[in-house]
Amino acid sequence: MAFIANVLSRVKPSATIAATQKARDLKAQGREVISLSVGEPDFDTPDNIKQAAIEAIKRGETKYPPVLGIPPLREAIAAKFKRENGLDYKFSDTIVGTGGKQILYNAFLVTMNEGDEVIIPAPYWVSYPEMVLINHGEPVIVPTTIDEGFKLQPDDLERAITPRTKWVVINSPSNPSGAAYTCDELKSLTDVLMRHPHVWVLTDDMYEHLVYGDFVFATPAQIEPGLKARTLTMNGVSKAYAMTGWRIGYAAGPAELIKAMDMVQGQQTSGACTIAQWASVEALNGPQDFIPVRRKAFEERRDLVISMLGQAQHLKCPKPEGAFYVYPSCAAAIGRRTPSGKAIETDEDFATELLEQEGVAVVHGGAFGQGPNFRVSYATSLKQLEDACKKIQRFTAELQ
Ligand SMILES: Cc1ncc(COP(=O)(O)O)c(C=O)c1O
Repeated sequence: MAFIANVLSRVKPSATIAATQKARDLKAQGREVISLSVGEPDFDTPDNIKQAAIEAIKRGETKYPPVLGIPPLREAIAAKFKRENGLDYKFSDTIVGTGGKQILYNAFLVTMNEGDEVIIPAPYWVSYPEMVLINHGEPVIVPTTIDEGFKLQPDDLERAITPRTKWVVINSPSNPSGAAYTCDELKSLTDVLMRHPHVWVLTDDMYEHLVYGDFVFATPAQIEPGLKARTLTMNGVSKAYAMTGWRIGYAAGPAELIKAMDMVQGQQTSGACTIAQWASVEALNGPQDFIPVRRKAFEERRDLVISMLGQAQHLKCPKPEGAFYVYPSCAAAIGRRTPSGKAIETDEDFATELLEQEGVAVVHGGAFGQGPNFRVSYATSLKQLEDACKKIQRFTAELQ
C-alpha cells in the first residue's frame, strides 16, 4: 500500500515556483540573473498597513480569530464590494482565508464530487487545474487565441458546458496573460451562463486594481446580477496592497457555500492570522492613494516591455489590459537553434536556453496550459526590465 495518497499522482508541482527556484540556484552559483518569473509586486506594503499590524499586536490582538474572519475585516470587505464593485453583499456573505489561494481551494473542496467538471480558460493560473484535480474533479481546459487577446469566447464557453459542469473560472485581469474582460465581453459570457443554471461562477479578481489606461474593471455578479446567487467573488490584498506575505484573501458568495467553507476552514486553519487581518482592515479602509501611483509605475513598465519585445525577432507580444504580466508567443522561434547548436523545440526549451545563455528567467507557456509562449512578469524596476529585454532581443536575434 502506497503511503502517499493516490490523488497526488494526478497533481504536478508549481512551475512558477520551479522557475523561480532555478533562477535562485543559478544566482547561488554566482551567475548574474534577472528574474522575470516572480508573481508579486516589488513594492513594499504601505507603512500605515504595517503600523496597523504593530498596533494590533500591542493591543493583544493575538488570539484565534473567528473562523470566517474578524468582524471589522468582514465589514470592510462588504463595504469594499459595495464601494468598488456596486455589489450588495451582507456581512454574513463574506469569508476571510489564508490568501486567495485558500479561498479557491476550499471552494473546490466543499463543492466537487468525483467527475465534476470545472471550465478553465487557458492560459490559466497554474493552480486552478491542480486544485480541481486534488479535489477529485476534472479540469476542462478551453484554449483561447492570441488574436482574441487570450479571452474566453462565448461560443467556446457554451460548447464546454456539460451536465457535469460545476464551475467556470473567470480570472480578469489574468495571470499569466494580463488579459482583462471589458463589461461587454463579460456580458457575452454571463449571457451564456444565464442559460445554464447549474453552472457556478468562480471569479478571481485578484488583479482588479492593476488595469491600465482607461480600462474599467468589472466582475461577473456586477455585470449580471442574475448570476450573483451562484457566484463566488474572490479577491485579496496580496497584489493591490503588496501584501503577498501576509496571506489574506477573501470572498463573498451565497450563504450555503460560505457555510460549507466555514465548516472546512474551522477544521483546517481555524481562520487566517489575526494580526494580518487587522492589517487588511487598514488596507481596505485606509488611504487608497498609493494605488494609482503604483498602477502608473506598472503601466510604464508594461509599455516598455511591450515596445521592446515587439522589436525582438520571432516574438509576437500583445498588449494586455492589466496585471503585471505579458505573454508573448515564441511560435516563430520553435524549430530554430541557438548559436551553440541547442534546438528550440518547445517553449520550455526557449525559457531554459534564455536562462542559460542570457541569465533571464521567464516561465514557459506549457506551465499555463497554452503555448508556445512564455510569461514575463514586469514587477521589477524599469532598469532591470530594459536590461532583460535587451538580452531577450539578443537571444532571439541569434536564433538560426
Ligand atoms: C490569479 C491569481 N489568483 C490567486 C492568487 C493567489 O493569491 P494569494 O497570494 O492571495 O493566495 C494568485 C497569486 O499569484 C494569482 O495570480
